[in-house]
Amino acid sequence: MTSRIVPVHPFDLVIFGATGDLAHRKIFPALYHRFCDRQFGTDSRIIGTSRRAMSVDAFRATVREALEQFASTTDQADGLREFLTIVDYVAVDGRGDEGWADLKAHLDAHAQEVRAFYLATAPDLFGDIAAKLGARGLASPLARIIVEKPIGADSASANAINDRIGAVFAERQIFRIDHYLGKETVQNLMALRFANILLEPLWNSNYIDHVQITVAETLGVEGRKAYYDHAGALRDMVQNHILQLLCLVAMEPPASLDADAVRDEKLKVLRSLDPIDETNAATLTVRGQYRAGASNGASVPGYLEDCGDPASTTETFVAIKAGISNWRWTGVPFYLRTGKRLSERVSEIVIVFRHVPHFLFKGVSGRLFDNRLTIRLQPDEGIKLWLTIKEPGPGGIRLQHVPLDMSFAEAFAGPTPEAYERLLMDVIRGNATLFMRRDEVEAAWRWIDPIRNAWSLSVEPPRPYVAGSWGPAASVALIERDGRTWNEDVA
Ligand SMILES: NC(=O)c1ccc[n+]([C@@H]2O[C@H](COP(=O)([O-])OP(=O)(O)OC[C@H]3O[C@@H](n4cnc5c(N)ncnc54)[C@H](OP(=O)(O)O)[C@@H]3O)[C@@H](O)[C@H]2O)c1
Repeated sequence: MTSRIVPVHPFDLVIFGATGDLAHRKIFPALYHRFCDRQFGTDSRIIGTSRRAMSVDAFRATVREALEQFASTTDQADGLREFLTIVDYVAVDGRGDEGWADLKAHLDAHAQEVRAFYLATAPDLFGDIAAKLGARGLASPLARIIVEKPIGADSASANAINDRIGAVFAERQIFRIDHYLGKETVQNLMALRFANILLEPLWNSNYIDHVQITVAETLGVEGRKAYYDHAGALRDMVQNHILQLLCLVAMEPPASLDADAVRDEKLKVLRSLDPIDETNAATLTVRGQYRAGASNGASVPGYLEDCGDPASTTETFVAIKAGISNWRWTGVPFYLRTGKRLSERVSEIVIVFRHVPHFLFKGVSGRLFDNRLTIRLQPDEGIKLWLTIKEPGPGGIRLQHVPLDMSFAEAFAGPTPEAYERLLMDVIRGNATLFMRRDEVEAAWRWIDPIRNAWSLSVEPPRPYVAGSWGPAASVALIERDGRTWNEDVA
């Protein structure tokens, strides 16, 4: 099976921060792949901007280099040449006045097209750039603005950024990207839940024992020390990606796939999260920081050396036992964990069902296993439903736990599109279903801020863990004191 490509209308896409890491590693490769699949053609334009003065040819050379390094299909030499013809460059200072008149002249030539502004810059530039787009008359009715995480560092700063963007663009024009929502398996979670009759009757506290969400990285902070040391794992991963995944698992069926219908339901989940603050953070959260160890077979330094600040108390690991107080989920813990320098790179959601009420097979070989539904986001995107069966063969009954396994790579021909590919085309189509609305971002911060506040009041530093492990022992204790274990089917 291959996917059907629906071409989008011609557009102008302006990328602020087009010489940066995100543009090179994600945005240009995503655009190039969509171009190669003919989702748009040479009547669209991609205009890169940043402060540095550069000729269009020099900029195209940097894009070519980035594509050679990060795109998967640069063997199409003609495609690459053709793609580069639609790439342009204008030097623009997001804070100053330089370059804006030039950018306007470029855009005025296509005043009737959809135009999108992708702010792939530090978030402290978002407000200034939005204001300049407004002041220069570039925020046309068909304009959209795309902003990257992190949107602020807490409720107050997020509100300030949202206010400044909202002063120029209507909410329907603002696309707050969380690239996890563009992943195939994440969208499949919606299809699985709402296009099949089998799961919905079981999708509640009567049948689900608990849910685990893990986003584990083997990498350290790499080139993003300054950002990471300020942000930490809670703000970098939980406030956005993990809470979004939790929402998709926990939300009620929306009335339609309309952007607001879906986002209304996610918002209700965020508003139903049980508060965690200084009264209960010590029992419901664990924060950790990696020490020297091994990653992918090589020795690696600890976080304090990586970040260059021996006194840093930034967490590189978080585990949280979250609760949702509503009709469907009261009493079902959601165990969340994320960290850097962990044992494996894996992102997955595990739904663990309750045991059967009466176990018939007490005297036979084998034991009672949980039914588990694992939704793997990366690597090897796919879905597994773990069932207990009788081991084939003569003799007595022996029970075995086996997965009904749907690996996307095996089930569908061709590579799975990257999240950014889907999301960028959704922006051009004006479909905001997979983007965060302002009230969602604010509700997420309202849940996160008291956790950070509780940590700041605590005298306990983050718990150390060895690089290459699964985090501090306290994270294991967090789930095991409830008689449960983290999912071990991570291979
Ligand atoms: N890299 C990732 O994988 C990743 C992932 C998720 C989110 N993000 C977020 O995406 C944003 C960009 O990250 P990045 O890693 O690409 O950063 P980066 O490599 O530091 O790039 C920053 C870009 O912004 C430009 N810039 C800086 N000041 C400017 C100004 N005053 N006016 C106009 N352009 C300016 C820089 O070019 P000049 O210096 O020439 O102006 C450069 O092109 C950040 O908010 C980051 O948190 C990044």
